[in-house]
Amino acid sequence: SQRAFIFDLDGVIVDTAKYHYLAWQKIANRLGIDFTHEHNELLKGVSRIRSLDIILGLGNVEASQEDKDKWLVEKNEDYLNYIEHMQADEILVGVVPVLEFLRQNNQPIALGSASKNARPILEKVGILHFFDAIVDGNDVTNAKPDPEVFLKAAQLVGMPAEGAVVFEDSVAGIQAANIAGMVSIGIGDKAILNEARYNVADFTEFSTDFLQTLVN
Ligand code: G6P
Ligand code: MG
Repeated sequence: SQRAFIFDLDGVIVDTAKYHYLAWQKIANRLGIDFTHEHNELLKGVSRIRSLDIILGLGNVEASQEDKDKWLVEKNEDYLNYIEHMQADEILVGVVPVLEFLRQNNQPIALGSASKNARPILEKVGILHFFDAIVDGNDVTNAKPDPEVFLKAAQLVGMPAEGAVVFEDSVAGIQAANIAGMVSIGIGDKAILNEARYNVADFTEFSTDFLQTLVN
C-alpha cells in the first residue's frame, strides 16, 4: 500500500546547520553577542525570524524592526553564498538509498521544511526529482511544532495524515509529526529526540526489513 513519506531538509537530508551557524555568527559577532555551537543547536528547525530573536535574546540586545529586517536579509545573503556550491557529496549518508527504495516501491515522497531555501538546495545536490511535493517556509504560516507543514505535505501527495511517515532531526518537528498522527522517526540523538516513535542515528541504520514493513 501507499503512504506519504515526508522528509525534513536541514539536518535530515543535508547538514546545513554549519552554514546557518557561520551566517548567524557574523551578525552575532558584530553585535558583540557570544553565539556558540550549543546555542546553534537551539536554532534547529526554528524559522529565520525566530532564530534572530533567540540570538538577540542571548545578548539581551534590543533592536528596531528596521534593523532586524536588515540583519535577516544579510544573514540570508551570506547563507546563500555558503550553499551556492553545495553538491551531491553533501547529502547525508544513507539518504539516497532510502529515497530510491521508496521510489521503487511507488511511495509518495514529500519535503516538509521550515526553510525558504529548500528548493534550490534540493536542486544543487541533485535530488529534487525524487519529490512529488515540496512544502517549505514559503508555504506555511505556523512553525513546527504546529503540524501545518506536514499536513500540507500529505495533502499535496493525496495521502491521509494518519500513517504518514516523517523523518525529523528537531524536537519541534517530532512533536509536529506526532500531533498530526504521523509516524515520527527521529534522525540523530535518541536522548534528545525521545518523543519519536522510532529513532536512528542516521539513514544507514534502517534495515531493509524495517523499510519493507513501512511500505507493505
Ligand atoms: C530549518 C533549519 C533552521 C532554519 C530554518 C529556516 O528549519 O533547521 O535552522 O532557520 O530552516 O531556514 P531559511 O533557509 O529559510 O533561513
Ligand atoms: Mg531539521
